[in-house]
Amino acid sequence: MCSPNFSFPNFKTAFSLLCPLIISHFIVVCLQEISEAPYTELTVNDILSSIWRDFPAAPNFTSFLKSSSAVHSTARLESPRDQYCVGDTLNVLVEMRDYEGRPKKQGGDFILARIHSPNLQASSSGYVTDLLNGSYRVSFTLFWPGDVQVSLRLIHPSEAVHALKRVSAGNYGKIKYTGTFINGSKREESQCSIRLDTDKALCEYRKKEDGEYYACIKPQTLPCSSLQTMRSQNNPVPNLTKDESQLLARKWIGLQIKNKFSSLKVISCSAGAHRKTEKCEAGMKSPFLSGYFLANKWTSSFCKTGHFRSEGDINRCLQGKRLYLLGDSTVRQWVEYLEKKLKGLKYVPPVNRFSVKLAVNPQKNITVKWRMHAHPFVFGNNVHLNKTVHISRELDRVPAGEGRSDVVVVIGVGQHFRPFPLEIFIQRLINIRQAILRLQARSPRALVVIKLENTRELSSAMTHVSDWFGHVQNLAQRKVFGDLKVALVDAWDMTVAANTFAIHPNSVILSNEIAVALSYLCH
Ligand SMILES: *[C@@H]1O[C@H](CO)[C@@H](O)[C@H](O)[C@H]1NC(C)=O
Ligand SMILES: *[C@@H]1O[C@H](CO)[C@@H](O)[C@H](O)[C@H]1NC(C)=O
Ligand SMILES: *[C@@H]1O[C@H](CO)[C@@H](O)[C@H](O)[C@H]1NC(C)=O
Ligand SMILES: *[C@@H]1O[C@H](CO)[C@@H](O)[C@H](O)[C@H]1NC(C)=O
Ligand SMILES: *[C@@H]1O[C@H](CO)[C@@H](O)[C@H](O)[C@H]1NC(C)=O
Ligand SMILES: *[C@@H]1O[C@H](CO)[C@@H](O)[C@H](O)[C@H]1NC(C)=O
Repeated sequence: MCSPNFSFPNFKTAFSLLCPLIISHFIVVCLQEISEAPYTELTVNDILSSIWRDFPAAPNFTSFLKSSSAVHSTARLESPRDQYCVGDTLNVLVEMRDYEGRPKKQGGDFILARIHSPNLQASSSGYVTDLLNGSYRVSFTLFWPGDVQVSLRLIHPSEAVHALKRVSAGNYGKIKYTGTFINGSKREESQCSIRLDTDKALCEYRKKEDGEYYACIKPQTLPCSSLQTMRSQNNPVPNLTKDESQLLARKWIGLQIKNKFSSLKVISCSAGAHRKTEKCEAGMKSPFLSGYFLANKWTSSFCKTGHFRSEGDINRCLQGKRLYLLGDSTVRQWVEYLEKKLKGLKYVPPVNRFSVKLAVNPQKNITVKWRMHAHPFVFGNNVHLNKTVHISRELDRVPAGEGRSDVVVVIGVGQHFRPFPLEIFIQRLINIRQAILRLQARSPRALVVIKLENTRELSSAMTHVSDWFGHVQNLAQRKVFGDLKVALVDAWDMTVAANTFAIHPNSVILSNEIAVALSYLCH
């Protein structure tokens, strides 16, 4: 009755594997009926359409001067007061205008918002609601007392957002891949891609059960199996108009929207009302305003974050644990941070900047291992394909067991997917979701942490890696992982609040990402 069903990727396998778990906790009959399932089946198309459903229609883009302009637009307080209380919601109304000063009539602008008190090293991001008529409501929670400033950046006008969306749909060509085939002393190169439009013979690399695929043009003499490394470079994006290209130039990215008000006075009106006392537990819903910095320390808005910033506290929490960091260099940073911070934690081979870093503390019995996720990745250097890992395969290999509580998995993906059509990323997320369910069925006490994407440099190649792609991909992560028993580390919220715009955030951000994750591990 509970025999595994191998038609991946779908929910049935996860359900079959969950059956033993369900039986051990409740006496239930294991029916292989989807309607009995605790988790629903997700398809790439469901996720895609739920993301684009709420997306405003394309604006009528006639010229640069008719696009949204930060410097011509204004922000005002919805119901201004002389004084605000800690815990209040602050609503700011943005009225968008174009470069000729005319009010915009449609939504779709990409705005990032924060409040901050520089002298207190305090900040928090804002939640932007598109009113779809050229106005936006930005909501903040006033988390701390002090003088608070509001800062709003127009990252992209709606005209640029739609250009990005248009030139990305179905476009696999933003990145040019060169594969190197090696056998003995023989070496050949050829072009590779997630989709290749050519009549030439192909080497196809297909993970049928995952619905994943890439290919290379077959090299002249060497067999397909001798493909060893891949490197990439950016291709220019065709089909942008001159005005659209102008909008995507650094000069017009992330400009400040003018405030019609000065800083606000926030006071504590009722003593100690806002400290959260609930334990952080995997499966809790992480809202969009997930917390705030004060004195550079992040406090969650919905559960009790621990300190975990000193060597002693981190060691106590990690003692006897295996930490598997799976994903890109933004989770590699976690092992690098911990290796610096914890004196007893030392690198042991293999160590490779592009694929694997392992650090152990034998006394405290701590292992931290980072593995780079498999293709697609965007590196100018040759990366050995066989040293990267399919996160879903790797999750299946994590040593696990009913009684084990030493396994912590942190998954951080996204940055390398930004140049590709969204469905590629969603397919990967769905495969990871299935593997998380399999892991949790084998090892119910394993902690799974999802680290969302952080923002990156405003000088990045916008057509390839704009933060708008990251924003949309984070929406996809919330949809794919939202009903699972996982902990969310909202690196987006933190980096918007702290105004970092760095693909590799600084140690303030890292220490807080790790502290939030450990709050789910050690209460
Ligand atoms: C878009 O612009 C064109 C040409 O300026 C105009 O004819 C058309 O009515 C506009 N459409 C909308 C929806 O504003
Ligand atoms: C935009 O819509 C909001 C909410 O429906 C409304 O309050 C506001 O007055 C509108 N703004 C304009 C300029 O029409
Ligand atoms: C390398 O070449 C040898 C001899 O031609 C062949 O037997 C072997 O399968 C090749 N290896 C790979 C990985 O393609
Ligand atoms: C660019 O436009 C041409 C002609 O409209 C179209 O055939 C092509 O698919 C477009 N390319 C991309 C990458 O959107
Ligand atoms: C290290 O931790 C693992 C997992 O908790 C445990 O099985 C093992 O016995 C520990 N080893 C030592 C030397 O304490
Ligand atoms: C991966 O590739 C490297 C370099 O070509 C090779 O030395 C190594 O044996 C390969 N490892 C595996 C597991 O195939």
